[in-house]
Amino acid sequence: MKAHLHLLITAICTAALLFTGAALAQTPSPGVAPRMKAIVYRDFGSPDVLRLEEIEKPVPLDNQLLIRVRGASVNPLDWHYMEGTPYLGRLVEFGLLKPKITRLGVDYAGTVEAVGKNVTQFKPGDEVYGNRFGAFAEYVVASEKALALKPANLTFEQAASVPVAAVTALQALRDKGHVQPGQKVLINGASGGVGTFAVQIAKSFGAEVTGVCSGRNAEMVRSIGADHVIDYTKEDFTQSGQRYDLVIDNVGNRSLSECRRVLDPKGKIILIGGGGVNDSRWTGPLIGVIKMLVLKPLVTQEMSMMLAEMNRKDLTILADLIQTGKVKPVIDRTYTLSQLPEALGYLEEGHARGKVVITVGDNIEPLVTTNRAPGSASSPGPVLVASVLIGVPLAVLILPVVVAFILNRRFRQRHPDKRGYRWGYYFSVMSFIHGLGLGAFLESGATAVIVCGLIYAVLAWFFAQRCHWAWVVLTILSFNPIAWIINAIYLRKRWAEGSVS
Ligand SMILES: NC(=O)c1ccc[n+]([C@@H]2O[C@H](COP(=O)([O-])OP(=O)(O)OC[C@H]3O[C@@H](n4cnc5c(N)ncnc54)[C@H](OP(=O)(O)O)[C@@H]3O)[C@@H](O)[C@H]2O)c1
Repeated sequence: MKAHLHLLITAICTAALLFTGAALAQTPSPGVAPRMKAIVYRDFGSPDVLRLEEIEKPVPLDNQLLIRVRGASVNPLDWHYMEGTPYLGRLVEFGLLKPKITRLGVDYAGTVEAVGKNVTQFKPGDEVYGNRFGAFAEYVVASEKALALKPANLTFEQAASVPVAAVTALQALRDKGHVQPGQKVLINGASGGVGTFAVQIAKSFGAEVTGVCSGRNAEMVRSIGADHVIDYTKEDFTQSGQRYDLVIDNVGNRSLSECRRVLDPKGKIILIGGGGVNDSRWTGPLIGVIKMLVLKPLVTQEMSMMLAEMNRKDLTILADLIQTGKVKPVIDRTYTLSQLPEALGYLEEGHARGKVVITVGDNIEPLVTTNRAPGSASSPGPVLVASVLIGVPLAVLILPVVVAFILNRRFRQRHPDKRGYRWGYYFSVMSFIHGLGLGAFLESGATAVIVCGLIYAVLAWFFAQRCHWAWVVLTILSFNPIAWIINAIYLRKRWAEGSVS
């Protein structure tokens, strides 16, 4: 009896143990969060810095949706973040030595899997498209603000091609360009992601559209509605003799004065793109933007820069345009998420025909690398970039102070009876640096930099001799209101001392 009881207890314990073991095996332990696959990068460089990693699946907050991503698209923005270019952007946006944001991708389309309790406009199962950092992944969480119902007549990949490119084109034409029916619109870079949407949206507003692209894309640009096409390999659109009401510049390869030649005196130019892979990796399109700000008050034409703002209203307007057949995404190539490095490498060449899209399937294979060295051969390392980014402004601030002290000391040794002249020396050195800066700003090559630097250096020398005319000229040419005020107050008082012989 005792033996039977022992056997029974052992059997019950074993069964209990087996049951709990099986239950434990089936129920994930509370500490282990669900995982998903996502593209991650932790260093700046070529597409081979990208990794496919298992990371925590995001959990939506009360005002967010969890979306299973089915399609994504690549934008120039993605390779700018991946490479940390233009380098100036590392000071404010990308991260100085390492990427601040380690996830990539912004455009997505997919199915809503779950919604937070404050979400009112969407429900699980809805097919949506929108814009959210980290879109190259199986899941994203997003608020209702930057997504809309996917146009029913598009695949997930086609829908994912829309957000950044089409919203940019729409806002440039409607909000900045105020395009009207019958107006003449020129679109430079008509065959790319933004350009193909811009041509169709401008046509939907009733404009007469001229697209600028290479000959191999001329037929495609005509087929999406362009009335005229200029093949930039054969003809320079700035020499065409035509006048346009609106110029949309997606390329940024022509100067503002060249573009103004083809602009009606009351026309508008909207700068959208620039900073392609062959442009300055340090400043990108920044110089063009500064030039625009300088020129803007001096000319009759309107000039503005475009920064697209993602919102549900515009995504819904675009969905309507797409569903009524007025706009259709032009898809160049389709890659899988595993082929993302190749897709980004292709886009970076700058000759995509429409959009490059990504399928995010159920079985994601390991990444296919492109075997490029991280960072192109000509790219300086992150430490060198950071040193230049911090060192140059520091040198510009400190060097003139040091030089001013040295020159002032020499002056005092030679003329012990006269008062020092520190600000004057500081101003002279700063003027010389301004001269070099102005030469670079003019973008007319090294000769312009040397000539401007020399002119300012000569003026600064005469100024140091306390010649009044050099003081006036240099003060004006400093283009610096602070220098104007200081010189007006400080130097005028000191001028009575006369020139130094
Ligand atoms: N400001 C914003 O909010 C905003 C938003 C989105 C994009 N962007 C910027 O806008 C620009 C365009 O973006 P995207 O997505 O359209 O880029 P994309 O798809 O890479 O553009 C490639 C297109 O540019 C054309 N192209 C290259 N060189 C050209 C030239 N010299 N003249 C005319 N066309 C030329 C190519 O045509 P061919 O093959 O025929 O040469 C190609 O079709 C980028 O600089 C991007 O960073 C800005």
